Amino acid sequence: MTEPVGSDETIGIVIVGCGIIGENHADAIAHFNGVAIAALVDAVPASATALADRVEASGRTRPQEFASLTDALALAAVDLVVICTPSGLHVALAEEALAADKHVLIEKPLDVSLPRARRIAALADAAEKRGLVSSVVSQHRFDPATTVVRTALVGDEFGRVTSGIASVPWWREQSYYDQASWRGTWELDGGGAAMNQGVHTIDLLLWFLGVPVDVSARSEILAHDRIEVEDTIVATVRFANGALGVIHATTAAYPGLPARVQVHGSRGSAIIDDDRLEYFATAATGGDNRAAELVPPEQLRGGPRVAESFVLGHVRQYEDVLQAIREKRAPIVRVADAMLALAVVRAMYLSSTLERTVTLDEVLSGGLDDVEIRTGGVS
Ligand SMILES: NC(=O)c1ccc[n+]([C@@H]2O[C@H](COP(=O)([O-])OP(=O)(O)OC[C@H]3O[C@@H](n4cnc5c(N)ncnc54)[C@H](O)[C@@H]3O)[C@@H](O)[C@H]2O)c1
Repeated sequence: MTEPVGSDETIGIVIVGCGIIGENHADAIAHFNGVAIAALVDAVPASATALADRVEASGRTRPQEFASLTDALALAAVDLVVICTPSGLHVALAEEALAADKHVLIEKPLDVSLPRARRIAALADAAEKRGLVSSVVSQHRFDPATTVVRTALVGDEFGRVTSGIASVPWWREQSYYDQASWRGTWELDGGGAAMNQGVHTIDLLLWFLGVPVDVSARSEILAHDRIEVEDTIVATVRFANGALGVIHATTAAYPGLPARVQVHGSRGSAIIDDDRLEYFATAATGGDNRAAELVPPEQLRGGPRVAESFVLGHVRQYEDVLQAIREKRAPIVRVADAMLALAVVRAMYLSSTLERTVTLDEVLSGGLDDVEIRTGGVS
């Protein structure tokens, strides 16, 4: 017998957007006791039905199906709203959830519009004071390799942090963009290789190197048709602590190579490749690579390739979000963090469009909100 949804013991969840990642959330939620998917919302009823079938087939209570979040909030016992729609719809739905006093978990990126992102950041702050948790998916922050590097940085093991590289050399067939009309559009995808594919790795670079000051970038469409957004972008970033960073994101690198993050300091360096630890050396290790001692073999680059299902990253982040709700504390990834990653991506687009260095202050203050972004520069 299932526990009553929405009771003190059970966290009732509604998933809004039952596409590829909505299904992944449903699978991740199945790993936890004391939670139940109370409702599924999709603008296409067949998508909600297909996911409800999947949840039911796995032995769980069949969620109610709705065509709008408004209906789901009115009729289902919901504590947490999980937003998995196309990116340009994230903030509008999150606003509705917070206005109804629900916790929210928003898929990445926070949204595609900075003015909307600013609004939700302010609302999330106010909601936090009312005891509501607002988080944004950045599941790679929870990878064991990421945790090792972040802990070393916080513990000052790398000395003065001097530079970092985030590289996402992926490949997407033309069919990827053709299969859903929102993909590759400024309005709903909000960008290409940086916004959609690169934002996780950019978030890690920011988590490691700190607050960015300014960004200089170039973007192009080089290997795809019928898209508005870039399939290749490179940028340099200057950070408040003086460190310099490089960002490289592309969906035009056949056959697709692993995402990679490097961080370097005056007393240590680390490399994460394909979400696994490849290199970790500090003055305390005598400059030797001690990666193998710091993570389990399957989390080590070059170690046994144990098929780690895509769902595991989301499971790790759900652990934090669900505990945050129960313990009435802030989650590890807050809306403000996602706002910063979004601002850096936006700064990359603005820099490429305007063909000049753009400061984060200009971007965050709204001074460049009216610039019409285009891929490639003016000349
Ligand atoms: N964290 C990750 O690793 C990761 C991976 C993939 C996608 N994403 C993010 O997840 C989001 C969705 O991506 P996807 O690949 O699942 O897309 P998708 O096209 O497969 O699914 C989106 C779903 O939202 C539905 N939808 C559209 N408008 C709606 C509305 N107003 N109300 C309710 N439902 C609506 C669509 O019908 C569709 O079923 C994007 O923001 C994307 O960036 C995150």
